[in-house]
Amino acid sequence: MTEFEKEVEIRLAKQAQNEPIKDLASSFMSASLAQKYSYNFFWQGRPIIQYPQDIFAMQELIWSVKPDLIVETGIAHGGSIIFSASMLALLDMYEAIEGGYDLNVSKPKRKVLAVDIDIKEHNRKAISEHPLANRITMIQGSSVDPEVVKAARELSQGKKVLVVLDSNHTFEHVYQELQAYAPLVSIGSYCIVMDTIVNDVSDAMYLDRPWSQNNNPKQAAHKWLSENSNFVVDKDIESKILLTVAPDGYLKRIK
Ligand SMILES: C[S@@+](CC[C@H](N)C(=O)[O-])C[C@H]1O[C@@H](n2cnc3c(N)ncnc32)[C@H](O)[C@@H]1O
Repeated sequence: MTEFEKEVEIRLAKQAQNEPIKDLASSFMSASLAQKYSYNFFWQGRPIIQYPQDIFAMQELIWSVKPDLIVETGIAHGGSIIFSASMLALLDMYEAIEGGYDLNVSKPKRKVLAVDIDIKEHNRKAISEHPLANRITMIQGSSVDPEVVKAARELSQGKKVLVVLDSNHTFEHVYQELQAYAPLVSIGSYCIVMDTIVNDVSDAMYLDRPWSQNNNPKQAAHKWLSENSNFVVDKDIESKILLTVAPDGYLKRIK
């Protein structure tokens, strides 16, 4: 560990005990969710429905895990899958530089598998026309459809896999997604359950949605974790980024 990394560790340990800053973060989350803050960002031209802090955490995780395959449920406009594809493209590029060989951009090594129940035509077109499109396989269907899960399982064979669950945020759906997709995650890698924050904020934010404080991804993650000791919540991530839609949602596979 470098001196700088040691300093970061000390700062973060202090921050984790800093109740005033955590209260401010929680107020910011409520106020910003109410005005749909996460709907204002773009990744390389595509709308990405995320908080920048979660995307930065994802970047750090992708860098440390170096997955071969990122499986994502919930495509929407494609921003998050283009983000994942670009991080994987950089990993392939660095590997080529270090290995002293030319990168074959038409045959990418690291890939994204993305699932959405309703891929709007304009989004499919924009994603398909993106320069990194050949890293992305899109499947239209429910993420818990056995055929879709089978396809994800087959594509994950022998790969280092990281999973992001960001589709239907009801308890039942996320619980089923965890059962289907968490087993694909490699040891040391992550299953990221988005929008666990629904549990912690007013239902007034989601009046037009089926999820609520009594029906949400955090409950699904907790139930699933109580039955699966091979994953733990990586609390360090949320206590570092402070602003996150995924409290208790960064699940690390430890065995
Ligand atoms: C929050 S958006 C995804 C945002 C995207 N990950 C991003 O960061 O930009 C949720 C998406 O989940 C999709 N969805 C809803 N129910 C689903 C299901 N049962 N299976 C797969 N996708 C679903 C919706 O069509 C929608 O596009």
